[in-house]
Amino acid sequence: MNQETWTAVDEFLADALIAPDAVQEETLRRNAAEGLPAIDVSPVQGKFLYLLAKIRGARRILEIGTLGGYSTIWMARALPGDGRLVSLEFSAKHASVARENVARAGLRDVVKICVGAALDSLAALEVEGEEVFDMIFIDADKPNNPEYLKWALRFSRVGTVIVGDNVIRDGRVADLADDDERVVGSRRLVEMMGEEPRIDATALQTVGQKGYDGFAIGLVVA
Ligand code: SAH
Ligand code: DHB
Ligand code: MG
Repeated sequence: MNQETWTAVDEFLADALIAPDAVQEETLRRNAAEGLPAIDVSPVQGKFLYLLAKIRGARRILEIGTLGGYSTIWMARALPGDGRLVSLEFSAKHASVARENVARAGLRDVVKICVGAALDSLAALEVEGEEVFDMIFIDADKPNNPEYLKWALRFSRVGTVIVGDNVIRDGRVADLADDDERVVGSRRLVEMMGEEPRIDATALQTVGQKGYDGFAIGLVVA
């Protein structure tokens, strides 16, 4: 099994399971034209996040790490008309591209993108009295994952679903001698989800067009 196979299978799955999606194809074209890195979730992963939000019946979603809004749009599509998605992005350039993509998707009134370091935006949201979220997707700078999980818990209630992206990193997560700060951030996210009494969690390894990686998923139970 190799990358070529994983990519071909992802294409088969997307063809079989995802309706033609001109809006999201244009999102990826715009991102590439603006020079954004192609590190968005894949189409089948995006639809997985969309289905999780639907299964949860989410009305309010928090995303940490917007990039060009590809995952944002997938999740926002799962919300009811009066739903809300708040997405946090450090780069003003990324946020600006994402806002255009979100508007083209017809989701301008549902999605709010906050520009700045996510830890600052999270503190500001708390001061502003932002309510708890039904689903939280952590997908920004990996070294801050432990802090993002602590904030996710502050913005959670019983039933909130917390998803972390990129927790496998080609298997490096399990090599305890690997002290790359991004790998350590992802490893700590998984360990903290296991240690935290308020969270019931698991994680799944994935292969696909983005290589070998995985998601952690936790349900807030207390
Ligand atoms: N969720 C997106 C991909 C996000 S890529 C998708 O799947 O479509 C990670 C993003 O996190 C990048 O846009 C990067 O600029 C942003 N980022 C990096 N450090 C950050 C920080 N400290 N606060 C907020 N966003 C950050
Ligand atoms: C990277 C970040 C991501 O969120 C991702 O899904 C893939 C790669 C990265 O920083 O390399
Ligand atoms: Mg990611």
